[in-house]
Order: sequence, then C-alpha cells, then structure tokens
Amino acid sequence: MPTIIREDGTTVTDAAERNAIIHALRLTVARGTPPPSAALDAVLAQRRVDEYLSRSLLSDSEPVIGGLYAGADVIALFPDTPDLERLEALFRRPHRHSDAELRYILAGEGVFGFVLPDGEQVEVTVAAGDLIGVPAQAEHWFRLGAGRTIIAVRLFGENPDWRADFTDTPVRVGQNWLSA
Ligand code: LAC
Ligand code: NI
Repeated sequence: MPTIIREDGTTVTDAAERNAIIHALRLTVARGTPPPSAALDAVLAQRRVDEYLSRSLLSDSEPVIGGLYAGADVIALFPDTPDLERLEALFRRPHRHSDAELRYILAGEGVFGFVLPDGEQVEVTVAAGDLIGVPAQAEHWFRLGAGRTIIAVRLFGENPDWRADFTDTPVRVGQNWLSA
C-alpha cells in the first residue's frame, strides 16, 4: 500500500487509520508486483520513452490495467528530462480535474498531496506496482520523490488532454516547495 504521511510528519502505520484516510479522500489504491518488462528495462537504461517503448509498456501492463480505462499513455520523467522543471511546477500546484486521475506506477517514486475533510494536509507516496485513483474534482497536487524519477501509465476516459483547475490552496507539506 502507498505510504501516508500526516501533516505533523508522522507516517501512518495503523491499518484502520490508513483505511480511514483513504476512504475520507475517496482514493482507489492497490499494490502489486509489476510484471517483468524488457521495455521497462530499456526505458530505465535510455532514460526516455519513445512511441515503440510506450506501446510495449502498455501491453506489458495489460494484466493489471486491462479494462480499467478508455485510453492510456506513458509518462516517464527523469532528472535530465527536458521540460522537467516546468512539469514539476505545474503538477505541484494544487488542482482538480474533471475526470478521475488514475495512475499505475512502473518505476520511481511520486508523492501526492491531499486535504482531508478537517483541513489537514497529507502526502501519499506511490512507487513501483502501485495503482492510485484520485476521484474527479478531488483537490490534489504531486511532486517527484527523492530520485526525481517516475515511469507511470496514465489512464484516462474520453479526453486525453491534461486539463486542470488550479485552486491556489497554500501547501504546508513536503520538502523543497518553491514559492508559487
Ligand atoms: C497529474 C498529477 C501529477 O495531474 O496530479 O498528472
Ligand atoms: Ni492531477
């Protein structure tokens, strides 16, 4: 299961407490072992994804993601990805989407931020094998983990365009936040 860290910096270890947070946020979370994938090894070695590798990653992920989506693509971010800073700046701003945000993590580590109904902010860390679903219209934000690397399948409905409504909620959790 993804790791949850409360606003006071403590990690949630109690299963009932973790489930209560996941339910309050209406998240879908699951963890499995990613199927072995030569395409994933190639993406990690090349530190970039192309059309062919992307198709291979999608078909290698089919046992997990088959039937879950209308469309899918692959996002692969590395510290030397051109445009990384712009994307990080975009994702770390609190936002909402009109569709659910569903991600299957193949490698690396990412951290989602959320606001609980009582206003407390929490961070949910996802890593290889994790599936996370953020409901439509749920406020969230995202940053890369320490290695600044993530490879994930993005599952979407009818509309593949990344569209967000930014909320400008001040973020009080996470490290290295640049001022917005
Ligand atoms: C997204 C994540 C990163 O919207 O929140 O793609
Ligand atoms: Ni988002």
